[in-house]
Amino acid sequence: MALSKKLEDAINEQINKELYSAYLYLSMSAYAEAEGLPGFATWMRIQAQEEVGHAMRLFDFVNNRGGRVVLKAIEMPPPVWKSPLKVFEQVLEHEQKVTGLINRLYELALNENDYATQMELQWFVTEQVEEEDSAGQVVEQLRRVGDQPMGLHMLDKELGQRQAGAAAEAAE
Ligand SMILES: [Fe+2]
Ligand SMILES: [Fe+2]
Repeated sequence: MALSKKLEDAINEQINKELYSAYLYLSMSAYAEAEGLPGFATWMRIQAQEEVGHAMRLFDFVNNRGGRVVLKAIEMPPPVWKSPLKVFEQVLEHEQKVTGLINRLYELALNENDYATQMELQWFVTEQVEEEDSAGQVVEQLRRVGDQPMGLHMLDKELGQRQAGAAAEAAE
């Protein structure tokens, strides 16, 4: 069964949103680098790679279903934030927004009786639970740290431990 035009358009839109997510996190990585927070920068850079993996999953899915991928312009992300806490509050807010987009896409796949798309999107539904959870945890940690430089330094070290690899999995 070929992808409906409606679903094809909606998934193309989601590819754009995933690439914007990558762009947003790369901008946060650059900001963290400039602020002398290399651990935050590493975390964000890996997060950006994961988002490219999400885009590529959908890219491959559209192609495999005989659809046509059409790439659109990617919006400019903000270049600066007021604090590391503000950065992670935006990560959480952004991921909550993306969860809403995935849910709406799933609803569309249900309405179109497209079971293969529903299956593909189930991976994203699960992934969004993880994304919101990990962003929420860092927000909590940053709130506890407050403005203690030592606490921020420790958290930066911890975030810098994040390993790439989940991105490779996501791109499979
Ligand atoms: Fe994503
Ligand atoms: Fe995400």
